[in-house]
Amino acid sequence: MAKMWAGLTNGTTDKLADDFNSSIRVDSRMYKQDIKGSMAHAAMLGATGIISQSEADTLISGLESILADIESGTLKISQDAEDIHMFVEEVLTTRLGDVGKKLHTARSRNDQVALDFRLYLRDEIDVLSEKITNLICAILEKAEEYKLAIMPGYTHLQRAQPIVFSHQLLAYIMMLLRDKDRLCDTKKRLNISPIGSCALAGTTYPTDRKFEAENLGFDDICQNSIDGVSDRDFALELVSNLSILMMHLSRFSEEIILWSSWEFKFIELSNSFTTGSSIMPQKKNPDMAELVRGKTGRVYGDLMALLTTLKGIPLAYNKDMQEDKEGVFDAVDTAKACIDIFTGMISTMTANTENMKKAAQKGFINATDLADYLVLKGLPFRSAYKISGQIVSFCIKEGFVLETLPIEKYKEYSELFDETVYNAVDLKVCVEKRISEGGTGYKSVENQIEFVKSKLNI
Ligand code: ARG
Repeated sequence: MAKMWAGLTNGTTDKLADDFNSSIRVDSRMYKQDIKGSMAHAAMLGATGIISQSEADTLISGLESILADIESGTLKISQDAEDIHMFVEEVLTTRLGDVGKKLHTARSRNDQVALDFRLYLRDEIDVLSEKITNLICAILEKAEEYKLAIMPGYTHLQRAQPIVFSHQLLAYIMMLLRDKDRLCDTKKRLNISPIGSCALAGTTYPTDRKFEAENLGFDDICQNSIDGVSDRDFALELVSNLSILMMHLSRFSEEIILWSSWEFKFIELSNSFTTGSSIMPQKKNPDMAELVRGKTGRVYGDLMALLTTLKGIPLAYNKDMQEDKEGVFDAVDTAKACIDIFTGMISTMTANTENMKKAAQKGFINATDLADYLVLKGLPFRSAYKISGQIVSFCIKEGFVLETLPIEKYKEYSELFDETVYNAVDLKVCVEKRISEGGTGYKSVENQIEFVKSKLNI
């Protein structure tokens, strides 16, 4: 087929060059956005009198039928087309004749692709946001279930202080809430219309950019046509948001992998979200979590690829920019799949609260509380800290824990000790006493759960 852009070059490109130049394999997924954008463009051309109203109506119904035919499968998107924009226009022109050729008035593929990309990602942001909400709800359910489950909280992967499992889960929820907020924030900057920027310099036709933008649900139009066709910040922002989201999921994955190991056995993943080994019958592998952790690298790669593609290109459009979509789509697809799998994995997981408790009973995670006990009795914190340290090392040597060390021994270290020390080092009490806002105390954890619910309106 003769090329629509066969001007000076006659369109006599080599087959190899045609294939290399084509982006249809990647951008065909934007067919709906491309057609909707064209419908808005045709409506604007009609409303401003650039073409007649009846021509605009013909174009719009032609585009509607192309959309319907693609969706029903009667029209296959040709993989020989150069890109989705050319494909739609070619079909339209074949179907409508000369009227079809009017669609591209006051437009360029440069502003068209920028428009399609924004429209596509705008929809995906909504999908991602909803998926994150579902994941948060799944984690929240577990956080409500395990409000009383005491476990060791870690620093340096060393047992540090007692917390409840719910508190740890809520930490991930807070991260995910920010991930959602970030998407919402990105959408504000993304939802600005580039259409009407044309090739780069605007147009001589009396277009109405605001009309077109409103028709497509944009909040505003971009103020500079060169920026309009060159800007890909919105895609970069999205992929960096997704990189942060994936980093959160990857940290969570790492914990899930640790917690489900024999060494921890804090949780049990469901058979439906684990795999077996082809050689070791005892194995139950946390593949889903490992894959999420692995795919995080892939999303970071997508971010790096786009940053690198853009860094050296002068304004305005350059063909390098055709490389912008594949990685972004990959990042979006990957993140969506990871969020879904995580939701399934979390909602079917159970916690082994007995093992958590056993782990909490070892490792002297109540040593800070022992020091705090002496502080309450009037000792400066540094002195109290020192005495507690000496008691802990005695216990380790002699095989005691703070809960079982006889009171006479305590008294050898300080006269301030009496029987009430056993209450002070009781793990449940240690948790309950952490009443500071955001802490692991039961009331605080309940407040956090309420906070999440109010954020999500549930
Ligand atoms: N397929 C192209 C892309 O994705 C569309 C824009 C083409 N513009 C051009 N001046 N050749 O970037």
